[in-house]
Amino acid sequence: MSTSGADVPVIAIDGPGGSGKGTITTRLANHLGWHFLDSGALYRLTALAVMKKQLSLHDETALGEIAANLDIRFETGVGDVRALLDQQDVTERLRSEDTGALASKIATIPAVRAALAGRQRQFRQLPGLVADGRDMGTVIFPDAKLKIFLTASAEIRAERRYKQLKEKGESVNLTRLFREIKARDLRDQSRSIAPLRPAGNAVIIDSTSLSIDEVFAKVVSLV
Ligand code: C5P
Repeated sequence: MSTSGADVPVIAIDGPGGSGKGTITTRLANHLGWHFLDSGALYRLTALAVMKKQLSLHDETALGEIAANLDIRFETGVGDVRALLDQQDVTERLRSEDTGALASKIATIPAVRAALAGRQRQFRQLPGLVADGRDMGTVIFPDAKLKIFLTASAEIRAERRYKQLKEKGESVNLTRLFREIKARDLRDQSRSIAPLRPAGNAVIIDSTSLSIDEVFAKVVSLV
């Protein structure tokens, strides 16, 4: 039996940034003993590589090449996953708002998406995969057994992010965060390739007034 491919079950969890899909994805993968894919991290790592090489966002060929040739590794430790780019730990920089904003810009470029598609599908390994992103259910794993679209109002997503950053001791401005989240939503939803939208057969969960435990319970009941 092959250990990757269509015989490996996938659960796709898509939605906008801050909807809680990252937390739900890792919790579900741990609960099931499956692999997980944080596809946003691949776009963020590409963004960091683009910054490092100081590439122009207009040079689509170079951007596609950089995405195709990324030297990346994920190391799973106790309670966290470290991300390495060119053998250097970039975990903290990966999560910054600037990296997210650049990731969302380069994610509109077809050559970048094409280069990252194959890498994402390589995560499909037995006994199964829980994949988190924007287009997991629509483009990367259209045959996923279960597709969830997790959403929440932009206001609550900005507040959650605000609390997270405050806890980390970063100085943040809620109004600015809210504006950035709206801009990123708009870019993700309106791009011509793989826009953020629920797959036709996705179950939509609005987490605006739900705790993470309540969302997790709902997802487990669907699994
Ligand atoms: O989920 P995360 O915030 O880490 O993703 C960063 C950016 O990468 C998103 O704003 C989105 O533009 C892009 N992305 C994407 N497709 C995915 C995952 C992320 O376009 N599957």
